[in-house]
Amino acid sequence: MSHDIDDQIEALKSSPNLPRHVAIIMDGNGRWAKKRRLPRLAGHRAGREPVRMCVRTCARIGIEYLTLYTFSLENWHRPSAEVSGLMMFLEDVLKKEYLELNENGVTLQVIGRRDMLPENTRAVLDETMQKLSGNDGLRLTLALSYGGRAEILDAARGLAAEVSRGKIGLEEITEERFREHLYDPNLPDPDLLVRTSGELRVSNFLLWQIAYSEIVVTDVLWPDFKEKHLIGAIMEYQKRERRYGMTP
Ligand code: IPE
Ligand code: IPE
Ligand code: MG
Repeated sequence: MSHDIDDQIEALKSSPNLPRHVAIIMDGNGRWAKKRRLPRLAGHRAGREPVRMCVRTCARIGIEYLTLYTFSLENWHRPSAEVSGLMMFLEDVLKKEYLELNENGVTLQVIGRRDMLPENTRAVLDETMQKLSGNDGLRLTLALSYGGRAEILDAARGLAAEVSRGKIGLEEITEERFREHLYDPNLPDPDLLVRTSGELRVSNFLLWQIAYSEIVVTDVLWPDFKEKHLIGAIMEYQKRERRYGMTP
């Protein structure tokens, strides 16, 4: 890593308006592979290093929450070889990265429809989450088998069940109550949402939570995403004026 990047990370650490929560739509693995005439899975494998970089860099800067869109509900409809390849790759990466995650003080959470994940993937996830649970550094959340609309529906079902049991009244359905039924009620809304590969859409990611997130889209494909791009996105965020619908 160049001294230049080290200096920028040091400078960011003490800079004002750092995002507390950075969420990333990691997109462009397939196109990265296609450009090189490689199979799509080679693109996913090449996406491992940017994930490591983001975890390490966010931990160094002192970002509290990093959420990575890893596999969407819609992604289940991809060819089964790609889906099973991705699941095996995820298990492999979790096992291999455990030590480094632990050294960085990271804790791991998962949001999404876990019951749809293969049993072995769930087992590896549970074991890794458990082993990291004593840490108090960066909270890394993987959105896996995740859909924003599904999360809102699941929360609505939870609330409806409380109403029908008479636990709460209709008038008690507030934004705060609703949030308690999201997959991780303790996850604050993302301040900064980054998407790679240039697509200008949110693809069903954290729909409830991104109401007032600042969005930065870069044309860089996920496997090419480097420290300088992450730092650039954070610096871009720091220049934004967040008004939340109010006047400056
Ligand atoms: C993102 O890369 C990774 C996942 C969705 C799992 P893609 O596989 O969507 O890559 P592109 O968009 O086809 O280039
Ligand atoms: C979003 O990317 C999902 C993940 C990054 C896991 P997609 O590639 O699935 O989204 P679309 O198809 O471009 O909207
Ligand atoms: Mg894509």
